[in-house]
Amino acid sequence: MNFTANADRGNQSSPYIFILQGFAGNCYFQVSLFMLFLFMYILTVTANASIILLVRTHPQLHTPMYWFLCNLSFLEIWYTTACVPKVLAVLLEKSQAISFLSCLLQMYFVFSLGCTEYFLLAVMAYDRYLAICYPLHYSSIMNGTMSAQLALGSWLCGFVAISAPAYLISSLSFCGRNSINHFFCDIAPWIVLSCTDTQSVELVAFIISFIVILGSCAITLVSYIYIISTILSIPSAKGRQKTFSTCSSHLIVVIIWYGSTIFLHVKPSIKESLDLTKTVHVLNTIVTPVLNPFIYALRNKEVKDAVRKVVSAA
Ligand SMILES: *[C@@H]1O[C@H](CO)[C@@H](O)[C@H](O)[C@H]1NC(C)=O
Repeated sequence: MNFTANADRGNQSSPYIFILQGFAGNCYFQVSLFMLFLFMYILTVTANASIILLVRTHPQLHTPMYWFLCNLSFLEIWYTTACVPKVLAVLLEKSQAISFLSCLLQMYFVFSLGCTEYFLLAVMAYDRYLAICYPLHYSSIMNGTMSAQLALGSWLCGFVAISAPAYLISSLSFCGRNSINHFFCDIAPWIVLSCTDTQSVELVAFIISFIVILGSCAITLVSYIYIISTILSIPSAKGRQKTFSTCSSHLIVVIIWYGSTIFLHVKPSIKESLDLTKTVHVLNTIVTPVLNPFIYALRNKEVKDAVRKVVSAA
């Protein structure tokens, strides 16, 4: 059997089907994971949707920083939705099968949204840099047009960047082996099953992740170097603390996100570390998306005030 998953598939009557292995373990373990993932999913969607609603309904939160936070929450909702519902089905052993096209779409969305997250975090760091280092010019530089362009640019770049590896994967051939050792269609465990040479896919995926991660990391890092040196030059301790509180939530989100990135990318070799990668991916796709709303809601005075108002009105 030799299926080619590209345009010249023509004479193939059935599309190629993959099996997502999910997690090894007995029935009890699978059900516990199912409950945990379901709970996390509902919590993620609710918490992020609440942030979006909160920002939209409170005029005092209508600033670029909170619009970017809205973008991030919107992104997290889709990021988990691209993964978790299918994981839930896999855990129940209801539908481990996934068609080639669904797998490709899932991969495309998960990775594009992941890329967008790097860009958005960099844009948010630049926004904090302008607000802290150029407080007098901030509102004229980061106006409505500028913030809309930066937000739109992040989304566009994320989705354009992943089209190249997605296109290359769509032209791979698969023959026989179809069991993906993962809970979603991640690139590495997927392309090891291919019977064509995957070198170009690996190279393109590597170059793109290199540019996206290092580029956004550089912008974020340089912004924070300027932010921290500006904060340290503030004479009063109270002033330092007040200024730092305007960027601390973002800094925590950045540290968590890049922390899980390091875990994902620093590993001995693709083929030997698939099981480890799977565990880190749980952190990345199921745990981190739920954290952002809570970090902002618990640390930002403006968000806390808005939450308090909503709670007392209810
Ligand atoms: C994303 O940010 C832009 C610009 O700040 C804003 O206009 C837009 O409404 C945001 N999108 C979402 C979904 O919150």
